[in-house]
Amino acid sequence: MMNGTAIVDFEAIRKRFPGAVESTYMNTAARGLLMRDSRAAIDTMLDARMHEGGDKPAMFDAVEGARSDFARLINAGAEEVAITKNVSEGLNAIIAAIEWRPGDNAVLCLDLEHPNNVYPWRHAARRFGVELRVISAGDGVMPVDQMISAIDGNTRAVTLSSVTFAPGFRSDMAAVGRVCREHDALFLVDGVQSVGVLKTDVAAEYIDAMAVSTQKGLLGLYGMGFLYCRNDWANRLTPAYLARFGVDFGEGAHEAALGGDDWKLMPGARRFDLGNYNFMAAAAVRPPLTLMLDIGPDQVEARVVSLAHRLAGGFLNIGLPVCGGEPGPHLAGLVAVGEIGTGQHDGTDDPAMQSLYDYLAEHNVQLTIRRGILRFSLHMFNNEEDIDRVLELAGQWRRTHNF
Ligand SMILES: Cc1ncc(COP(=O)(O)O)c(C=O)c1O
Repeated sequence: MMNGTAIVDFEAIRKRFPGAVESTYMNTAARGLLMRDSRAAIDTMLDARMHEGGDKPAMFDAVEGARSDFARLINAGAEEVAITKNVSEGLNAIIAAIEWRPGDNAVLCLDLEHPNNVYPWRHAARRFGVELRVISAGDGVMPVDQMISAIDGNTRAVTLSSVTFAPGFRSDMAAVGRVCREHDALFLVDGVQSVGVLKTDVAAEYIDAMAVSTQKGLLGLYGMGFLYCRNDWANRLTPAYLARFGVDFGEGAHEAALGGDDWKLMPGARRFDLGNYNFMAAAAVRPPLTLMLDIGPDQVEARVVSLAHRLAGGFLNIGLPVCGGEPGPHLAGLVAVGEIGTGQHDGTDDPAMQSLYDYLAEHNVQLTIRRGILRFSLHMFNNEEDIDRVLELAGQWRRTHNF
Protein backbone atom coordinates (compact mmCIF):
# COMPACT_ATOMS: atom_id res chain seq x y z
CA MET A 1 0.00 0.00 0.00
CA MET A 2 1.25 3.45 -0.90
CA ASN A 3 -1.46 5.39 0.93
CA GLY A 4 -1.13 7.45 4.07
CA THR A 5 1.57 10.09 3.88
CA ALA A 6 3.83 8.24 1.40
CA ILE A 7 4.84 10.19 -1.68
CA VAL A 8 3.11 8.84 -4.76
CA ASP A 9 5.04 8.74 -8.02
CA PHE A 10 2.33 10.18 -10.26
CA GLU A 11 4.75 10.44 -13.21
CA ALA A 12 5.25 6.67 -13.14
CA ILE A 13 1.47 6.23 -12.94
CA ARG A 14 0.99 8.55 -15.95
CA LYS A 15 3.21 6.28 -18.05
CA ARG A 16 0.73 3.45 -17.52
CA PHE A 17 -1.88 5.41 -19.54
CA PRO A 18 -0.64 5.67 -23.15
CA GLY A 19 -3.32 8.22 -24.03
CA ALA A 20 -2.04 10.63 -21.39
CA VAL A 21 1.11 11.36 -23.38
CA GLU A 22 -0.45 11.16 -26.85
CA SER A 23 -2.74 14.14 -26.27
CA THR A 24 -3.48 16.62 -23.50
CA TYR A 25 -6.36 14.64 -22.11
CA MET A 26 -8.89 16.61 -20.08
CA ASN A 27 -12.00 14.60 -20.88
CA THR A 28 -12.56 12.21 -17.97
CA ALA A 29 -16.00 13.74 -17.35
CA ALA A 30 -16.99 12.15 -20.67
CA ARG A 31 -14.78 9.04 -20.43
CA GLY A 32 -11.48 8.32 -18.71
CA LEU A 33 -8.38 6.83 -20.30
CA LEU A 34 -7.63 3.10 -20.24
CA MET A 35 -4.50 1.68 -18.64
CA ARG A 36 -2.24 -0.69 -20.54
CA ASP A 37 -2.99 -3.25 -17.80
CA SER A 38 -6.72 -3.05 -18.62
CA ARG A 39 -5.99 -3.76 -22.26
CA ALA A 40 -3.87 -6.75 -21.23
CA ALA A 41 -6.62 -8.09 -18.95
CA ILE A 42 -9.20 -7.82 -21.73
CA ASP A 43 -6.83 -9.48 -24.20
CA THR A 44 -6.31 -12.42 -21.83
CA MET A 45 -10.06 -12.90 -21.55
CA LEU A 46 -10.61 -12.52 -25.29
CA ASP A 47 -7.85 -15.01 -26.07
CA ALA A 48 -9.44 -17.57 -23.77
CA ARG A 49 -12.80 -16.87 -25.39
CA MET A 50 -11.42 -17.16 -28.92
CA HIS A 51 -9.25 -20.26 -28.42
CA GLU A 52 -11.13 -22.26 -25.77
CA GLY A 53 -14.58 -20.72 -25.68
CA GLY A 54 -13.74 -18.85 -22.48
CA ASP A 55 -12.83 -19.58 -18.88
CA LYS A 56 -16.06 -19.03 -16.94
CA PRO A 57 -14.57 -19.29 -13.41
CA ALA A 58 -11.99 -16.66 -14.37
CA MET A 59 -14.78 -14.47 -15.74
CA PHE A 60 -16.73 -14.71 -12.48
CA ASP A 61 -13.53 -14.00 -10.53
CA ALA A 62 -13.15 -10.77 -12.50
CA VAL A 63 -16.70 -9.71 -11.57
CA GLU A 64 -16.39 -10.60 -7.90
CA GLY A 65 -12.96 -8.96 -7.69
CA ALA A 66 -14.32 -5.77 -9.25
CA ARG A 67 -17.33 -5.82 -6.92
CA SER A 68 -15.23 -6.15 -3.78
CA ASP A 69 -12.57 -3.64 -4.90
CA PHE A 70 -15.27 -1.09 -5.70
CA ALA A 71 -16.89 -1.74 -2.31
CA ARG A 72 -13.57 -1.05 -0.55
CA LEU A 73 -13.08 2.10 -2.59
CA ILE A 74 -16.34 3.59 -1.30
CA ASN A 75 -16.16 2.10 2.23
CA ALA A 76 -18.96 -0.42 1.73
CA GLY A 77 -19.30 -4.19 1.96
CA ALA A 78 -19.23 -6.32 -1.21
CA GLU A 79 -22.78 -7.55 -0.45
CA GLU A 80 -23.93 -3.92 -0.73
CA VAL A 81 -22.87 -3.67 -4.38
CA ALA A 82 -24.81 -4.83 -7.45
CA ILE A 83 -23.44 -5.02 -10.98
CA THR A 84 -25.31 -2.96 -13.58
CA LYS A 85 -24.82 -1.62 -17.10
CA ASN A 86 -24.62 2.08 -16.35
CA VAL A 87 -25.82 4.92 -14.13
CA SER A 88 -29.31 4.89 -15.65
CA GLU A 89 -29.88 1.25 -14.84
CA GLY A 90 -28.73 1.69 -11.25
CA LEU A 91 -30.95 4.72 -10.62
CA ASN A 92 -33.95 3.05 -12.25
CA ALA A 93 -33.42 -0.17 -10.28
CA ILE A 94 -33.76 1.73 -7.02
CA ILE A 95 -36.61 4.04 -8.03
CA ALA A 96 -38.66 1.14 -9.40
CA ALA A 97 -38.02 -0.96 -6.27
CA ILE A 98 -39.45 1.57 -3.82
CA GLU A 99 -42.99 0.78 -2.72
CA TRP A 100 -44.40 4.22 -3.46
CA ARG A 101 -47.45 5.15 -1.39
CA PRO A 102 -50.11 7.73 -2.23
CA GLY A 103 -48.89 11.19 -1.20
CA ASP A 104 -45.17 10.31 -1.36
CA ASN A 105 -42.80 12.94 -2.69
CA ALA A 106 -39.22 13.02 -3.98
CA VAL A 107 -36.91 16.05 -3.74
CA LEU A 108 -34.50 16.91 -6.55
CA CYS A 109 -32.95 19.72 -8.58
CA LEU A 110 -33.68 19.06 -12.24
CA ASP A 111 -31.57 22.02 -13.46
CA LEU A 112 -28.30 20.38 -12.50
CA GLU A 113 -29.01 16.70 -12.99
CA HIS A 114 -27.93 14.78 -16.07
CA PRO A 115 -30.98 13.78 -18.18
CA ASN A 116 -30.41 10.20 -17.01
CA ASN A 117 -31.26 11.30 -13.47
CA VAL A 118 -34.24 13.34 -14.66
CA TYR A 119 -36.31 10.93 -16.74
CA PRO A 120 -36.43 8.11 -14.17
CA TRP A 121 -38.11 10.60 -11.81
CA ARG A 122 -40.48 11.99 -14.42
CA HIS A 123 -41.38 8.40 -15.21
CA ALA A 124 -42.01 7.66 -11.50
CA ALA A 125 -44.23 10.74 -11.30
CA ARG A 126 -46.39 9.49 -14.18
CA ARG A 127 -46.29 5.85 -13.30
CA PHE A 128 -46.56 5.84 -9.51
CA GLY A 129 -47.99 9.33 -8.92
CA VAL A 130 -44.88 10.50 -7.03
CA GLU A 131 -44.96 14.24 -6.31
CA LEU A 132 -41.70 15.76 -7.55
CA ARG A 133 -40.50 18.62 -5.38
CA VAL A 134 -38.27 20.36 -7.88
CA ILE A 135 -35.83 22.89 -6.48
CA SER A 136 -34.17 25.40 -8.81
CA ALA A 137 -30.46 26.09 -8.86
CA GLY A 138 -29.35 29.68 -9.22
CA ASP A 139 -25.62 29.63 -9.76
CA GLY A 140 -24.58 26.11 -10.69
CA VAL A 141 -24.46 24.97 -7.06
CA MET A 142 -26.82 22.27 -5.78
CA PRO A 143 -29.41 24.17 -3.69
CA VAL A 144 -28.83 21.91 -0.72
CA ASP A 145 -30.44 24.17 1.91
CA GLN A 146 -33.65 24.54 -0.07
CA MET A 147 -33.68 20.82 -0.79
CA ILE A 148 -33.38 20.10 2.93
CA SER A 149 -36.22 22.53 3.66
CA ALA A 150 -38.43 20.67 1.16
CA ILE A 151 -38.01 17.31 2.95
CA ASP A 152 -40.97 16.34 5.12
CA GLY A 153 -42.70 13.27 6.54
CA ASN A 154 -43.93 12.26 3.05
CA THR A 155 -40.50 12.43 1.42
CA ARG A 156 -39.51 8.92 0.35
CA ALA A 157 -36.42 9.80 -1.70
CA VAL A 158 -33.98 12.60 -2.38
CA THR A 159 -31.50 12.57 -5.23
CA LEU A 160 -28.29 14.49 -5.92
CA SER A 161 -25.24 14.25 -8.14
CA SER A 162 -22.12 14.16 -5.96
CA VAL A 163 -20.45 16.36 -8.60
CA THR A 164 -22.59 17.77 -11.41
CA PHE A 165 -21.77 17.01 -15.05
CA ALA A 166 -21.82 20.78 -15.61
CA PRO A 167 -20.44 23.02 -14.17
CA GLY A 168 -18.84 20.25 -12.09
CA PHE A 169 -19.12 21.60 -8.56
CA ARG A 170 -19.28 19.35 -5.52
CA SER A 171 -22.55 18.91 -3.66
CA ASP A 172 -22.74 18.87 0.13
CA MET A 173 -23.77 15.26 0.38
CA ALA A 174 -23.50 14.70 4.13
CA ALA A 175 -25.81 17.64 4.88
CA VAL A 176 -28.59 16.17 2.74
CA GLY A 177 -27.88 12.57 3.74
CA ARG A 178 -28.12 13.32 7.43
CA VAL A 179 -31.59 14.84 7.07
CA CYS A 180 -32.73 11.97 4.84
CA ARG A 181 -31.66 9.51 7.52
CA GLU A 182 -33.71 11.41 10.14
CA HIS A 183 -36.79 11.21 7.88
CA ASP A 184 -36.19 7.65 6.67
CA ALA A 185 -36.07 9.02 3.11
CA LEU A 186 -33.82 7.15 0.67
CA PHE A 187 -30.80 9.27 -0.34
CA LEU A 188 -29.97 8.24 -3.92
CA VAL A 189 -26.76 9.61 -5.42
CA ASP A 190 -25.53 9.81 -8.99
CA GLY A 191 -21.84 9.41 -8.17
CA VAL A 192 -20.42 9.04 -11.65
CA GLN A 193 -18.67 12.43 -11.80
CA SER A 194 -16.83 11.91 -8.51
CA VAL A 195 -16.14 8.24 -7.81
CA GLY A 196 -12.56 7.34 -8.76
CA VAL A 197 -11.56 11.01 -8.77
CA LEU A 198 -12.68 12.17 -5.32
CA LYS A 199 -12.66 10.10 -2.17
CA THR A 200 -16.12 8.61 -1.53
CA ASP A 201 -17.20 7.34 1.86
CA VAL A 202 -20.82 6.21 1.69
CA ALA A 203 -21.05 5.86 5.48
CA ALA A 204 -19.66 9.30 6.29
CA GLU A 205 -21.89 10.89 3.64
CA TYR A 206 -25.07 9.06 4.75
CA ILE A 207 -25.60 7.70 1.24
CA ASP A 208 -28.29 5.03 0.97
CA ALA A 209 -27.80 4.16 -2.69
CA MET A 210 -25.38 5.31 -5.37
CA ALA A 211 -25.14 4.54 -9.08
CA VAL A 212 -22.00 4.86 -11.21
CA SER A 213 -20.75 3.57 -14.54
CA THR A 214 -17.17 2.48 -15.10
CA GLN A 215 -16.06 4.53 -18.13
CA LYS A 216 -15.41 7.89 -16.43
CA GLY A 217 -13.52 8.30 -13.14
CA LEU A 218 -13.23 4.54 -12.70
CA LEU A 219 -11.23 4.37 -15.94
CA GLY A 220 -12.98 1.31 -17.35
CA LEU A 221 -15.19 0.44 -20.32
CA TYR A 222 -18.70 1.47 -21.31
CA GLY A 223 -21.46 -1.03 -20.52
CA MET A 224 -20.75 -1.72 -16.86
CA GLY A 225 -21.77 0.07 -13.71
CA PHE A 226 -21.97 -0.49 -9.97
CA LEU A 227 -24.97 0.13 -7.76
CA TYR A 228 -24.28 0.58 -4.07
CA CYS A 229 -27.28 0.06 -1.80
CA ARG A 230 -27.01 0.14 1.98
CA ASN A 231 -28.15 -3.16 3.50
CA ASP A 232 -30.90 -1.59 5.60
CA TRP A 233 -32.50 -0.19 2.47
CA ALA A 234 -31.75 -3.04 0.06
CA ASN A 235 -33.53 -5.51 2.30
CA ARG A 236 -36.68 -3.35 2.15
CA LEU A 237 -36.63 -2.98 -1.65
CA THR A 238 -38.39 -5.22 -4.17
CA PRO A 239 -36.55 -5.28 -7.51
CA ALA A 240 -38.70 -4.66 -10.59
CA TYR A 241 -36.61 -7.18 -12.54
CA LEU A 242 -35.51 -10.50 -11.13
CA ALA A 243 -33.35 -13.30 -12.47
CA ARG A 244 -31.06 -16.05 -11.24
CA PHE A 245 -28.34 -13.96 -9.61
CA GLY A 246 -30.87 -12.00 -7.57
CA VAL A 247 -32.23 -15.20 -5.96
CA ASP A 248 -30.68 -16.75 -2.87
CA PHE A 249 -29.87 -20.45 -3.51
CA GLY A 250 -27.19 -20.59 -0.84
CA GLU A 251 -23.44 -20.70 -1.26
CA GLY A 252 -21.96 -22.58 -4.24
CA ALA A 253 -25.16 -23.31 -6.22
CA HIS A 254 -24.74 -23.60 -9.98
CA GLU A 255 -25.69 -20.56 -12.03
CA ALA A 256 -28.38 -22.58 -13.86
CA ALA A 257 -29.88 -24.00 -10.63
CA LEU A 258 -33.62 -23.73 -10.15
CA GLY A 259 -35.01 -23.83 -6.62
CA GLY A 260 -38.55 -24.51 -5.46
CA ASP A 261 -41.46 -22.21 -4.75
CA ASP A 262 -39.87 -21.20 -1.46
CA TRP A 263 -37.27 -19.04 -3.25
CA LYS A 264 -36.17 -15.82 -1.64
CA LEU A 265 -34.41 -12.68 -2.75
CA MET A 266 -30.67 -12.35 -2.26
CA PRO A 267 -29.88 -10.35 0.84
CA GLY A 268 -28.56 -6.85 0.22
CA ALA A 269 -27.82 -5.27 -3.14
CA ARG A 270 -27.22 -8.57 -4.93
CA ARG A 271 -30.97 -8.86 -5.46
CA PHE A 272 -30.43 -6.30 -8.23
CA ASP A 273 -27.95 -8.51 -10.13
CA LEU A 274 -29.66 -10.17 -13.09
CA GLY A 275 -27.93 -12.55 -15.53
CA ASN A 276 -24.49 -12.86 -17.06
CA TYR A 277 -22.22 -9.86 -16.78
CA ASN A 278 -20.09 -7.66 -18.99
CA PHE A 279 -17.04 -9.77 -18.10
CA MET A 280 -14.62 -7.79 -20.32
CA ALA A 281 -15.58 -4.59 -18.56
CA ALA A 282 -15.09 -6.24 -15.18
CA ALA A 283 -11.60 -7.34 -16.23
CA ALA A 284 -10.85 -3.83 -17.53
CA VAL A 285 -11.86 -2.00 -14.37
CA ARG A 286 -9.80 -4.12 -11.99
CA PRO A 287 -6.36 -2.59 -12.71
CA PRO A 288 -7.51 1.01 -12.12
CA LEU A 289 -9.45 -0.05 -9.00
CA THR A 290 -6.36 -1.81 -7.67
CA LEU A 291 -4.26 1.26 -8.45
CA MET A 292 -6.70 3.62 -6.71
CA LEU A 293 -6.82 1.41 -3.62
CA ASP A 294 -3.05 1.18 -3.63
CA ILE A 295 -2.50 4.94 -3.88
CA GLY A 296 -5.41 5.75 -1.57
CA PRO A 297 -8.47 7.70 -2.78
CA ASP A 298 -7.54 10.70 -0.61
CA GLN A 299 -4.18 10.98 -2.38
CA VAL A 300 -5.83 10.73 -5.80
CA GLU A 301 -8.28 13.45 -4.79
CA ALA A 302 -5.56 15.74 -3.42
CA ARG A 303 -3.56 15.43 -6.63
CA VAL A 304 -6.48 16.04 -9.00
CA VAL A 305 -7.94 18.90 -6.99
CA SER A 306 -4.58 20.67 -6.79
CA LEU A 307 -4.27 20.43 -10.59
CA ALA A 308 -7.81 21.79 -10.96
CA HIS A 309 -6.92 24.77 -8.73
CA ARG A 310 -3.86 25.50 -10.85
CA LEU A 311 -5.94 25.39 -14.02
CA ALA A 312 -8.82 27.52 -12.69
CA GLY A 313 -6.44 30.12 -11.24
CA GLY A 314 -4.50 30.26 -14.52
CA PHE A 315 -7.65 30.75 -16.61
CA LEU A 316 -8.74 33.60 -14.34
CA ASN A 317 -5.33 35.27 -14.77
CA ILE A 318 -5.84 35.16 -18.53
CA GLY A 319 -9.26 36.79 -18.02
CA LEU A 320 -11.42 33.81 -18.93
CA PRO A 321 -14.83 33.38 -17.26
CA VAL A 322 -14.29 30.42 -14.93
CA CYS A 323 -17.56 29.08 -13.50
CA GLY A 324 -17.58 29.60 -9.75
CA GLY A 325 -14.78 32.19 -9.90
CA GLU A 326 -11.74 31.81 -7.63
CA PRO A 327 -10.81 28.19 -6.92
CA GLY A 328 -12.34 27.10 -3.61
CA PRO A 329 -13.95 24.15 -1.87
CA HIS A 330 -16.56 23.86 -4.64
CA LEU A 331 -13.91 22.58 -7.08
CA ALA A 332 -13.61 18.86 -7.83
CA GLY A 333 -11.62 17.57 -10.82
CA LEU A 334 -13.52 19.62 -13.40
CA VAL A 335 -12.88 23.22 -14.40
CA ALA A 336 -15.66 24.85 -16.42
CA VAL A 337 -15.23 27.96 -18.57
CA GLY A 338 -18.03 30.05 -20.10
CA GLU A 339 -21.58 30.76 -19.14
CA ILE A 340 -23.76 27.78 -18.28
CA GLY A 341 -26.94 27.39 -20.26
CA THR A 342 -25.74 29.11 -23.45
CA GLY A 343 -26.23 26.03 -25.60
CA GLN A 344 -27.80 22.61 -25.98
CA HIS A 345 -26.58 19.54 -24.07
CA ASP A 346 -23.32 19.23 -26.02
CA GLY A 347 -22.78 22.62 -27.66
CA THR A 348 -22.39 26.34 -27.06
CA ASP A 349 -24.06 29.38 -28.65
CA ASP A 350 -21.19 31.59 -27.50
CA PRO A 351 -18.84 32.17 -30.51
CA ALA A 352 -15.90 32.99 -28.22
CA MET A 353 -16.21 29.70 -26.37
CA GLN A 354 -16.67 27.79 -29.62
CA SER A 355 -13.52 29.46 -30.99
CA LEU A 356 -11.50 28.62 -27.86
CA TYR A 357 -12.74 25.04 -28.01
CA ASP A 358 -11.74 24.74 -31.70
CA TYR A 359 -8.31 26.26 -31.04
CA LEU A 360 -7.59 23.82 -28.23
CA ALA A 361 -8.93 20.85 -30.21
CA GLU A 362 -6.66 21.81 -33.15
CA HIS A 363 -3.76 21.68 -30.70
CA ASN A 364 -4.55 18.17 -29.52
CA VAL A 365 -6.33 19.06 -26.28
CA GLN A 366 -9.26 16.77 -25.52
CA LEU A 367 -12.23 18.26 -23.73
CA THR A 368 -16.02 18.52 -24.14
CA ILE A 369 -18.67 21.22 -24.27
CA ARG A 370 -21.73 20.71 -22.09
CA ARG A 371 -24.65 23.16 -21.81
CA GLY A 372 -22.63 25.99 -23.28
CA ILE A 373 -19.48 25.61 -21.18
CA LEU A 374 -16.05 24.15 -21.87
CA ARG A 375 -15.34 21.25 -19.52
CA PHE A 376 -11.72 20.53 -18.63
CA SER A 377 -11.83 17.38 -16.54
CA LEU A 378 -8.82 15.82 -14.88
CA HIS A 379 -7.62 12.57 -13.37
CA MET A 380 -4.50 11.19 -11.72
CA PHE A 381 -2.73 10.73 -15.07
CA ASN A 382 -2.71 14.51 -15.69
CA ASN A 383 0.27 16.56 -14.58
CA GLU A 384 1.40 20.18 -14.20
CA GLU A 385 2.75 20.18 -17.77
CA ASP A 386 -0.74 19.44 -19.09
CA ILE A 387 -2.14 22.34 -17.11
CA ASP A 388 0.57 24.76 -18.20
CA ARG A 389 0.26 23.69 -21.83
CA VAL A 390 -3.48 24.41 -21.84
CA LEU A 391 -2.93 27.76 -20.10
CA GLU A 392 -0.25 28.65 -22.66
CA LEU A 393 -2.60 27.76 -25.54
CA ALA A 394 -5.51 29.66 -23.98
CA GLY A 395 -3.24 32.71 -23.57
CA GLN A 396 -2.17 32.49 -27.23
CA TRP A 397 -5.80 32.20 -28.30
CA ARG A 398 -6.68 35.28 -26.25
CA ARG A 399 -3.86 37.34 -27.85
CA THR A 400 -4.72 36.28 -31.41
CA HIS A 401 -8.53 36.25 -31.41
CA ASN A 402 -10.77 39.29 -31.05
CA PHE A 403 -13.50 38.40 -28.62
C1 LIG B 1 -23.83 12.97 -13.90
C2 LIG B 1 -24.03 11.95 -14.99
N1 LIG B 1 -24.95 11.00 -14.85
C3 LIG B 1 -25.14 10.06 -15.79
C4 LIG B 1 -24.38 10.03 -16.95
C5 LIG B 1 -24.56 8.98 -17.96
O1 LIG B 1 -25.42 7.95 -17.57
P1 LIG B 1 -25.27 6.46 -18.13
O2 LIG B 1 -24.07 5.84 -17.47
O3 LIG B 1 -26.51 5.80 -17.73
O4 LIG B 1 -25.12 6.55 -19.61
C6 LIG B 1 -23.39 11.02 -17.13
C7 LIG B 1 -22.54 11.10 -18.34
O5 LIG B 1 -22.58 10.49 -19.32
C8 LIG B 1 -23.21 11.99 -16.12
O6 LIG B 1 -22.27 12.93 -16.26
